[in-house]
Amino acid sequence: MKKRLLFVCLGNICRSPLAEALMRQMQTEFGLDFELDSAGTSGYHSGEQPDARTRANALKNGLDISYLRARQFVPNDLHIFDRIYTMDRNNLLDIQKAHSESEHLHKLSLLPHPEKHGEYIEIPDPYYGTEADFEQVFQLLSRSISALCKEFISND
Ligand code: 4NP
Repeated sequence: MKKRLLFVCLGNICRSPLAEALMRQMQTEFGLDFELDSAGTSGYHSGEQPDARTRANALKNGLDISYLRARQFVPNDLHIFDRIYTMDRNNLLDIQKAHSESEHLHKLSLLPHPEKHGEYIEIPDPYYGTEADFEQVFQLLSRSISALCKEFISND
């Protein structure tokens, strides 16, 4: 059965939908085949398209993410996904705290560091930032998702 990966941020409109879309593109390039989704720890933006600034920046980098819609993380996500990647430590702690009795917390982690094997990175929240911050998020996510694909290939 296909492995299921979930990407999580706060709003599911900036970082995690981009992570999902980058993984969709890169898994094909790397010959991997996962079921993918993304979610937000908050439901503030449920049902919305990714943030207009994220969509514009992704498009500038050749990626159309307008098909995605935000949803809130639900307890069942801990059951049905094999790995859950949070964009920053706050997202990770929020899930850990809300589900402290869960037997599935080992599925949670940050994304891998692009160069340092075994280390992790946080993707900074660009919501109150500038265009340069959105570009930084795109570049950081591209490099980290590429490292993630390489990890899956070497662990298979
Ligand atoms: P995201 O960014 O967690 O990467 O989707 C944010 C989106 C919305 C808000 C904060 C961060 N907000 O405060 O509404």
